[in-house]
Amino acid sequence: MKITKTSISRLNTTDFSNLPFGTVFSDHMLVCHYKDGEWLAPQIEPYGPISMFPGTQVLHYGQSVFEGMKAFKNNNDEVLLFRKEENLKRLNQSAVRLSIPEIPEDVFINGLIELLKLDGEWCKADDGYSLYIRPFIFASSEWIKASSSDEFTFMIITSPTINYYPGSIDLVIEQHFSRATNGGVGYAKAAGNYAGSFYPTKKANARGFTQVIWTDSKEHKYIEESGTMNIWFRIDNKLITPSLSDSILGGITRDSILKLAIDAGIDVEERIVSVAEILEASKNGTLQEAFGTGTAVTVVAVKSITLEDIKMNIPTQENPISMRFKKQLQDLQYGRSEDIFSWTSKVTSSITAF
Ligand code: COI
Repeated sequence: MKITKTSISRLNTTDFSNLPFGTVFSDHMLVCHYKDGEWLAPQIEPYGPISMFPGTQVLHYGQSVFEGMKAFKNNNDEVLLFRKEENLKRLNQSAVRLSIPEIPEDVFINGLIELLKLDGEWCKADDGYSLYIRPFIFASSEWIKASSSDEFTFMIITSPTINYYPGSIDLVIEQHFSRATNGGVGYAKAAGNYAGSFYPTKKANARGFTQVIWTDSKEHKYIEESGTMNIWFRIDNKLITPSLSDSILGGITRDSILKLAIDAGIDVEERIVSVAEILEASKNGTLQEAFGTGTAVTVVAVKSITLEDIKMNIPTQENPISMRFKKQLQDLQYGRSEDIFSWTSKVTSSITAF
């Protein structure tokens, strides 16, 4: 793989004590072009601006998908990747839905490993730190005819990170706007899904809420996700999360929590969850916990859920199950516990030939 190293690393001038999520980027990036029906050889270059014509398709029609994944440092200063094959699988599922050619496994996996070998120092070993990895693909044909591009660009950039949300969060049930609809692209990590969520989220933020809870687009009666996370409830000692559908993103953290819960013998249900049952559980005192999961947030506790003018305060538990899962997950991600699910893989630190 052609690798061009940066001549001036930003590593020593980066303030690692101040890393607002997604705003600081590591030294290098992977770039790979799709032309004439095939993905060409990927390259690694210094992180920097990319040029494109104003008529580039993605700027007009948003034919673009992305992934979110993380690398962690263990106590031996080795970089660990978490369930990377799942991210490739999901990226390609998203790509198919958006009429984008799938990324070959070797381009994704080898490209990612080479990139992390170069920028592994951006992944700090201290607790709470990780390197957020953002693979993405966009339509790069220079045309504004409303049809699928025939050229694409795949890139991977990385961003050192600490926390997504500083503490527990306040949610409001969205009853007007929708994130996704039946037969749409909600299950894909399509860029436009996120663009469409910003306006309703901004309105919720202005009312003092951290995020919205997305409900089904037809009746707004059933809970789907919250913000960019999957959502979970503990009711009467049962762990419940909405079952996947074409309007819900299949989170890799969601899947990991499911497996941890089943392994621990916890009563867990993936099913349709109605707003009415959450309200009822809150009223009758059986709503014990609510939490969100996602790559960026890991696991975050929910403090309150508001439905119109009813605020449901989630009781504070002495040993919340959400925090138990968070610790278990992080212990696996940082290589602090035995990897019984074979979820982590090491990025060897030996530097490749240039
Ligand atoms: C992730 O958790 O990786 C996400 O996709 C959230 C991101 C939009 C910040």
